[in-house]
Amino acid sequence: MSIAHGIRTLGVLGAGQMGTGIALVSALRAKVPVLLYDQSQDQVKKGLAFAEKLLEKDVSKGRIKSEEAKEARERITPVDPSLGLKGFRDANMVIEAVSENLSLKQTIFSTLAAELSPDAILASNTSSISITKIAASAIPKGASAASEEGKASAGRVVGLHFFNPVPVMKLVELISALQTTKDTLDRARSFAVACGKEVTTSNDVPGFVSNALLMPFINEAIMCLEKGTATRDDIDTTLKLGMNHPMGPLQLADFIGLDTCLAIQKTLYEGTSDSKYRPSILLERMVDAGWYGKKSGKGFYDYQ
Ligand code: 3HC
Repeated sequence: MSIAHGIRTLGVLGAGQMGTGIALVSALRAKVPVLLYDQSQDQVKKGLAFAEKLLEKDVSKGRIKSEEAKEARERITPVDPSLGLKGFRDANMVIEAVSENLSLKQTIFSTLAAELSPDAILASNTSSISITKIAASAIPKGASAASEEGKASAGRVVGLHFFNPVPVMKLVELISALQTTKDTLDRARSFAVACGKEVTTSNDVPGFVSNALLMPFINEAIMCLEKGTATRDDIDTTLKLGMNHPMGPLQLADFIGLDTCLAIQKTLYEGTSDSKYRPSILLERMVDAGWYGKKSGKGFYDYQ
């Protein structure tokens, strides 16, 4: 299939809540074949089962025809686990949605740069890690960052930041690394639009626009709880009913994942040295305790 964004086959790396959502909107809305890979086969199974539930719900609510659901389902193919990232060779765009760990992402992007064709777009769904640092790892062995080959390879790396839950949230934040070319930005933007999203653009600063604003807000709410300013429920209700937020900040932190919130806040604090981004001690302790929010069954709320 040849469409404006030119994406013939998409690879999605990571079948957690973000990766699964990205695979689903790409198959259903942008109508591209999707290769889905996760090192955990169990995670792939869970992701596909969740996508199936969402498709069935859309059919039962009359939003899509059962034929469209069938086509979307058939467009998503799990990658043979024995192939690893080599399974993405036919993709001309990959979106990485693994955990927030710079060295893991650098290893992945270095491998993708070696395995995929030179015109393939390499996108990261990172919430806060520098796209410029990730792009610097997507350079073929032996080439320098300043060589034509190095610049072309790093120039196809871009940030494509989706929001949770991906099928529901209307935004994608597009982040340009120092190296990103205009062609890469244009194609990535067209792809996000084909997925049914509005696109905003941010420079590559810690947290970009979204998390540079959201995380201090969440952290301040946790500090209110820590200081005893108000109860959990009063903090959340104040923001829900007083400001019409769909979730209070503590419920939202649980929903995003407290480990993810902490990782983003650390990136913001380390990347700016600005004390306003220092994570609260209570957040650190909750993550130490293994209380990661909704996904682990316990956070500021209980989900058993
Ligand atoms: N995946 C897919 N769909 C989901 C979902 C999920 N995890 N959770 C809820 N939905 C769907 C429901 O199925 C329902 O769909 P329907 O209209 O077809 O029935 C719809 O969302 C509304 O759900 P509910 O009626 O159950 O509940 P709510 O009305 O309370 O809405 C919500 C749920 C959409 C999650 C809403 O509470 C909300 O918008 N919360 C804020 C979410 C938010 O701020 N997300 C951004 C987080 S920040 C981020 O992702 C960036 C990262 O870098 C940290």
